[in-house]
Amino acid sequence: MANLSLLSGSYFMFFILCLSLRGSLSCLHDQREALLDLKDVLVRDMVTDNSTDLFLGGLETWNSSSECCQWILVQCNSRSSSQEVTGLNLSSLFPLRGKASTVLESVFRIKTLMSLDISYNSLHGEIPRIGFGNLTELAHLDMRGNSFNGSIPPRLFRLRNLEFLDLSVNMIEGSLPGDVGGLKKLKQLSLDANIIRGEIPEEIGNLIELRKLTLPGNQISGRIPLSISQLRKLEVLQLQNNSLS
Ligand SMILES: *[C@@H]1O[C@H](CO)[C@@H](O)[C@H](O)[C@H]1NC(C)=O
Ligand SMILES: *[C@@H]1O[C@H](CO)[C@@H](O)[C@H](O)[C@H]1NC(C)=O
Ligand SMILES: *[C@@H]1O[C@H](CO)[C@@H](O)[C@H](O)[C@H]1NC(C)=O
Ligand SMILES: *[C@@H]1O[C@H](CO)[C@@H](O)[C@H](O)[C@H]1NC(C)=O
Ligand SMILES: *[C@@H]1O[C@H](CO)[C@@H](O)[C@H](O)[C@H]1NC(C)=O
Repeated sequence: MANLSLLSGSYFMFFILCLSLRGSLSCLHDQREALLDLKDVLVRDMVTDNSTDLFLGGLETWNSSSECCQWILVQCNSRSSSQEVTGLNLSSLFPLRGKASTVLESVFRIKTLMSLDISYNSLHGEIPRIGFGNLTELAHLDMRGNSFNGSIPPRLFRLRNLEFLDLSVNMIEGSLPGDVGGLKKLKQLSLDANIIRGEIPEEIGNLIELRKLTLPGNQISGRIPLSISQLRKLEVLQLQNNSLS
């Protein structure tokens, strides 16, 4: 009898231990710092008192005394002893609006990101050329509705886990290089309303998972490559308002 209560006592202790471990599951220190650095850059020029919380669009929950996986706009996955930040949704975020693309710098320290949405912020300047090379887990990247200029950074085409890439409604120039064919998991590629020139590369036919390909409103020329007919899963193809022959 004494043995039994000893046993259940230790089960109880084990249970308590599990509970407290669970409670202390926290996001990685570096990732939390990266997010707080991002917030600092974004709200630097804003007067932040209680009345501006309204305009922070969720960033008001990002502070050093709370758990970063509970912050609004942040998504995490649990791992054994910590939580990894896997998603960041900064779409139409007032403090990000109209800023230079360089404000995104600290985002590129969060290497576990699988989803990044920075759409509809009128960000200007070039798409960061180096930073995306860090985000090798990225599956969903939404950058539509900004004012990005310059060409598409080659590093984007090395993000082999990308399934969704939307760069529509920017001022992106240059051509769509054959390297795009390396994004074998891509289900949607949208570059609508930019200033893309040159031809659609033959390698587009390598994107065998593609469901949606939209490139309208560019200056794409030449012929539609035959390889597109190999895309058995393609459901939506939009190429209007280009100079295709
Ligand atoms: C913000 O609100 C809290 C209570 O909700 C109050 O204690 C604090 O003084 C307020 N701060 C400012 C700057 O108004
Ligand atoms: C930090 O944010 C949490 C919500 O995420 C809030 O409950 C708490 O009051 C905030 N703490 C400070 C010091 O602002
Ligand atoms: C981000 O949030 C917006 C709403 O604010 C939503 O429409 C969009 O689908 C979200 N993006 C992702 C990747 O979940
Ligand atoms: C990539 O991640 C490393 C380590 O977290 C960081 O030091 C570096 O600045 C990141 N690269 C870029 C271009 O942001
Ligand atoms: C992109 O726009 C910025 C101003 O926002 C300008 O300084 C830069 O030269 C432009 N880059 C290209 C490649 O056009």
